[in-house]
Amino acid sequence: MSTAAHGPLLGRIAADATPGVNERARVRIPYDLRDRVRRNQYVTIADARSPGLVFLGRLITGPFFPSPEESSDIVADVEIQGELDGNQTYDTNNRPAPESAVYELGPAEVRELLGLHGDMVLGCLSGWPEIGLSLQSHNKDVLPRNVGIFGTVGSGKSNSVQVIIEEASARGWAIVLLDLEAEYVYMDQPTSQETLARALPKFGREPRGLPDFHVYHPVSCTSDRPESQPFTLRIADFEPSVTAELLQCTLAERNALFDCIDYLQQKYQPRMTTTDSERLTELFDPAPAKPPYTLQLLKARATERSPRNSESMDYVGLASKLQQLVHSGAFDQPNMRGLDPAEMLQPGRVNVIDVSIANDNVKNLVTADLLRKAFAYKIAREKAPPTLLVIEEAHSFMSRERAHTMHATLQMLRNVTRRGRKRWLALAFVSQQPGHLPPEIFELCNTRIVHTLRSMHNLDALMATTGDITRELWSRCPLLGTGEAIISSPQFHRAVVARIRPAASNRRFTR
Ligand SMILES: Nc1ncnc2c1ncn2[C@@H]1O[C@H](COP(=O)(O)OP(=O)(O)OP(=O)(O)O)[C@@H](O)[C@H]1O
Ligand SMILES: [Mg+2]
Repeated sequence: MSTAAHGPLLGRIAADATPGVNERARVRIPYDLRDRVRRNQYVTIADARSPGLVFLGRLITGPFFPSPEESSDIVADVEIQGELDGNQTYDTNNRPAPESAVYELGPAEVRELLGLHGDMVLGCLSGWPEIGLSLQSHNKDVLPRNVGIFGTVGSGKSNSVQVIIEEASARGWAIVLLDLEAEYVYMDQPTSQETLARALPKFGREPRGLPDFHVYHPVSCTSDRPESQPFTLRIADFEPSVTAELLQCTLAERNALFDCIDYLQQKYQPRMTTTDSERLTELFDPAPAKPPYTLQLLKARATERSPRNSESMDYVGLASKLQQLVHSGAFDQPNMRGLDPAEMLQPGRVNVIDVSIANDNVKNLVTADLLRKAFAYKIAREKAPPTLLVIEEAHSFMSRERAHTMHATLQMLRNVTRRGRKRWLALAFVSQQPGHLPPEIFELCNTRIVHTLRSMHNLDALMATTGDITRELWSRCPLLGTGEAIISSPQFHRAVVARIRPAASNRRFTR
């Protein structure tokens, strides 16, 4: 299929002076078009010698003025992004011949050619306010294939999180966000930052709080949000192998844990004929914990068995780890409800779990509880709305260093992402230390929003796992301003540099 080149004529490809760079070509442009030559302008190039051969390009350097004479041609370098076939871009092994015509692309055409159309407004192309950039809420290749939001301290990650939450919830997604710093607990109110509010109308948005918004906190902690609802964790809701990993049990402590759980199950539930659906009903029922086992019963059993301690069964070590959990006060509190997926996972509802005061163990266990329940609920209830779970500081839940001792947790994540996709369950991982995340987590994040990153350690980790971002684009990463990001997504035909719009809802601790 041949492709027509679009837009007004900008200039012509110059002859290659020296052996050139494969993906670059020089353009000669009449001086009177100077105002139209800006870096990052997208162009199409109709090859002068092969009719029908059309390239997509982007001006990446210039404008240069090779002659001191006024009104002589100016030059710029264009990066060849691919060959166009209809509205699709394909990789190319070719370059445009000299005298090929270079045409300027208009905003609508750029949006179309790059696949930037959608119903969730994220922002615009950086430097091109007229070229809006949106994600598609109904595209299974976008949110359900998971999102990664990375960037150094203060680069704009939390703002991007808010924008995605605002847009997805407005399109009927249910959202649960783990808030590590109690910064999102007032998102039902409009933004209070004047400068952000002023920039919103350009993106067709105005300051606005979320209409269906709820805050929860572990009963052992408090929340700065007075209406926040406390919940208890129930030790019986966890896969024993996940509990063991999150408590960083040794092998002998893990053996002891399994032994104690077995004992309590035999004692309180000797029939052992629970069906899958019975187990799910128990998991979803937010009622206060009851036997077969609670943390207190488990701890008592481990203590009772302490005299039997051996090299392979460390009841003493286990009892002390369980004691720390008892101390945390987050588990199996009488008359306290657990997390209730049926209540939280409703269309358009945004739930924030404020774990700002919890210790690391409790944070991790809340994360695991949420993942397991949301996943089980989505599998069991076909009619549940599309759901997005946002995990801030993902590297502290699942780090590269700990990955080799966290097989069960990783397996749970893998399950949630692989099988969850078919049921519209999506994860968003946020991290300022992507270099500390296991590479597997990157591979799960198909849409990546990369704010500025300056440490090579963090950049290397991303570059190694993101094939569709060119070296030229990566080189801009350390220079990005606050709120700017390189975005690659299965929805976009090319990775782009975007300016993310400011959030419309409120956030605390904004610098
Ligand atoms: N897209 C944006 N447009 C305008 N201003 C922004 C944008 N994103 C962030 N900012 C500004 O930069 C500040 C820092 O942003 P933000 O808190 O989102 O960064 P962060 O990466 O989450 O930081 P941290 O690492 O501390 O969590 C915000 O308070 C806001 O004022
Ligand atoms: Mg943040």
